[in-house]
Amino acid sequence: MEPRDELSAMITGLRRSAALSVAAELGISDEIAATALTADALAARIGADADTLRRLLRVLVELGVYTEDAEGRYANTDLGEVLRSDVPGSLRPLARTFQDPATWGAWGHLAHSVRTGENAFEALHGVDVWSYRGAHPAANAVFNATMAALTSRMAAAVADAYDFAGLSSVVDVGGGDGVLLEAVLERHEHLTGTVFDLPQALPSTPSTGASESVAARWSAVPGDFFEAVPSADVHLLKKVLHDWSDDQCVEILTICRDSLRPSGVVLVVETVLDRPGRELDAALSDLNMLVMPGGRERTTEEFAALFAASGLRLARVIETPTEVVILEGV
Ligand SMILES: C[S@@+](CC[C@H](N)C(=O)[O-])C[C@H]1O[C@@H](n2cnc3c(N)ncnc32)[C@H](O)[C@@H]1O
Repeated sequence: MEPRDELSAMITGLRRSAALSVAAELGISDEIAATALTADALAARIGADADTLRRLLRVLVELGVYTEDAEGRYANTDLGEVLRSDVPGSLRPLARTFQDPATWGAWGHLAHSVRTGENAFEALHGVDVWSYRGAHPAANAVFNATMAALTSRMAAAVADAYDFAGLSSVVDVGGGDGVLLEAVLERHEHLTGTVFDLPQALPSTPSTGASESVAARWSAVPGDFFEAVPSADVHLLKKVLHDWSDDQCVEILTICRDSLRPSGVVLVVETVLDRPGRELDAALSDLNMLVMPGGRERTTEEFAALFAASGLRLARVIETPTEVVILEGV
């Protein structure tokens, strides 16, 4: 590709993102999952303008998300299938996050963050993302579903990567839907587990797919990790610290350390900036943390410094075959 073309595709990437997020919002992949439909038939089903929908579909066909046959009927490709609601690890919730003007707005405010160092979301909307989601149930549901879907892709591998022998209780701190906790309980039958989160993110029961054994060892506790976390042998923090500043991370980790049982461990599950082969994803996620929750992605060394400032020692960095590593704090 010519440099001009390559750069142009990057600059206009927002258009692709917008088209995909509208397809997700309208549920197009669900509607055409069983039977290919024409634009007119699809428009009637989802309540859209047929001519305009055809224009959207033209882009999505060019992007390889849908196919159009000789009769003008649209069907999912392998990419389109991933936007269905009912497939494991569906990316429909992730795509829908960009339908929320608050998210678009925060990214549109990136220059403000770069100029001032401030969090774009709060500068623009006057509240942090968690308060915003607490007050906007639809946006909150989409965010929680996004986290659950992304975590479901890696939960088993993370649960397999750590040896929980000699430990008996786990708290998934900021555990959202508890997808990771369920995978840990499924694979380590001697453990009991608690998912701990703000009330707006906390499930009231284990997922419908959880086994009886997991359900019997599962509990959920609402709370704020800046105040207290339940005592346990293991505090799991997956993609929690990246939402917060260094000082806030030290507050959270110190509270975890203080409520750990003797010989307990803190397991921080995160993307690290210094992991070869994942640099671009981590760097883009770092910008997302800057504009949305006001946190940052970090290097292994930066996590070690946060541990040290919280009275913990980074004992090991455990690789997983996924985008995250496990940083073990003792
Ligand atoms: C990026 S999500 C990660 C969710 C989950 N650990 C995962 O990886 O799928 C961060 C989580 O922290 C929770 N959270 C934010 N502020 C919190 C607080 N003050 N106390 C407890 N949980 C909080 C959010 O509700 C959300 O579920």
